[in-house]
Amino acid sequence: MIDLARAGALSALLLLASCASSGLDDPVPLSDSLSRRARVLGKSFGSAVALGALFNDERPELSRRYREVVASQFDLIVPESEMKMAAMWKGPDDIDFSRVDRIADWAVANGLRMRGHVLVWHRSLPAWLVEGRGRGAYANDDVAAMVEWYIRRVMGHFKERYPGLISAWDVANEAIGPNDPRSGGPFGLRPPGSDYRGEGQDFWRLCLGDDYVERAFRWARSADPEAKLFYNDYHDEYGNPKGDAIFDFVSGMLDRGTPVDGIGLQCHVSVAYLDMAFPGIDFSLRSVGETIERWTGLGLEVQVTEADVGMGAGEGRRQAGLFSGLVAAALAERGASAFVTWGFTDAVSWREAERPLYFDRSLNPKESYYAMLDALEALEEGRGGLRP
Ligand code: G3I
Repeated sequence: MIDLARAGALSALLLLASCASSGLDDPVPLSDSLSRRARVLGKSFGSAVALGALFNDERPELSRRYREVVASQFDLIVPESEMKMAAMWKGPDDIDFSRVDRIADWAVANGLRMRGHVLVWHRSLPAWLVEGRGRGAYANDDVAAMVEWYIRRVMGHFKERYPGLISAWDVANEAIGPNDPRSGGPFGLRPPGSDYRGEGQDFWRLCLGDDYVERAFRWARSADPEAKLFYNDYHDEYGNPKGDAIFDFVSGMLDRGTPVDGIGLQCHVSVAYLDMAFPGIDFSLRSVGETIERWTGLGLEVQVTEADVGMGAGEGRRQAGLFSGLVAAALAERGASAFVTWGFTDAVSWREAERPLYFDRSLNPKESYYAMLDALEALEEGRGGLRP
């Protein structure tokens, strides 16, 4: 049910290389567009993209179709992995922007904007940094100075080279644990530790202290005073005790004057959540709407940042109902500015086995795609939205 145990990451390149070619000879024309419909409402519609799928010389026809879908359906993209520390930060003075710049160049050429994901996260850390500290090469103060430098350098790079491209930065991500809202908690900052390949330990809390998230926001504000700074997490989009802890955490930061502008609601959910009966957990579209209102009540901009909807066999219609219901519940809210999904094709997803997206493995639209278009049209016409 709520199992966000991280599936091993799947290489976009391998996935595309292994996915069936059926459908590509006869790709379904895409005459409508999620982002064009969202724009009528004053909102953005976006997706995570993987560089290995965007440009894949091994499967040029698949890659072309991938680019066609992205360029026609979205106005906002987010690199799924290429902008993370582990992908870019190669050494104390060495940040390699070459891969993420390929995505950024393509976004600019196609008139898309980008989310910045992510500056400070307890996962996807550079091994040289964590292991260097473990060997005594860096003291905690050194690590603090290095991450401040990293934030300045990364934000500065995009500000200078791609002015206006990045509409929002995920400054900090998933600081609150444990993962599962049914675990009984207690919910709060993850324990400090250097087990960065595991799930629970937080290297930043270990090195920078309990206020590391606030410090990261202040560094980010000073690096780019105009940037919109987001805190991003999961299980913060519906009623549950982990969501309450995240709300308290962010409220506390705002009370202390921390420059947080927005909240990212990841929205990694499953059709099975609709059947969940667990004390203290309210997974309903009404609850999603109320939760967004609670966040907007803090004065924050809200974005759904990583939506996907896991499903089992024969659950395509229920998935479509939940996808469209989430779009309707979120984008009906004045304070919600974007609906971003974590990929769009079941061929390239961290939850590939659950077919959690709305284009199939041959990159043709599923029922969920059309249901989201209908939901956007219904919002446009003031008819609310579909409900599962
Ligand atoms: O690019 C390397 C490749 O060179 C190498 O050969 C291969 C060997 O494992 O790894 C490749 O990197 C992987 C990367 O995905 C790209 O495929 C990493 O190992 C792998 O850890 C990484 O997984 C990503 C994960 O975040 C960790 O960064 C997933 O694709 C990505 O979907 C996932 O996204 C997160 C969000 O950032 C935050 N919210 C939850 C979401 C899902 O876990």
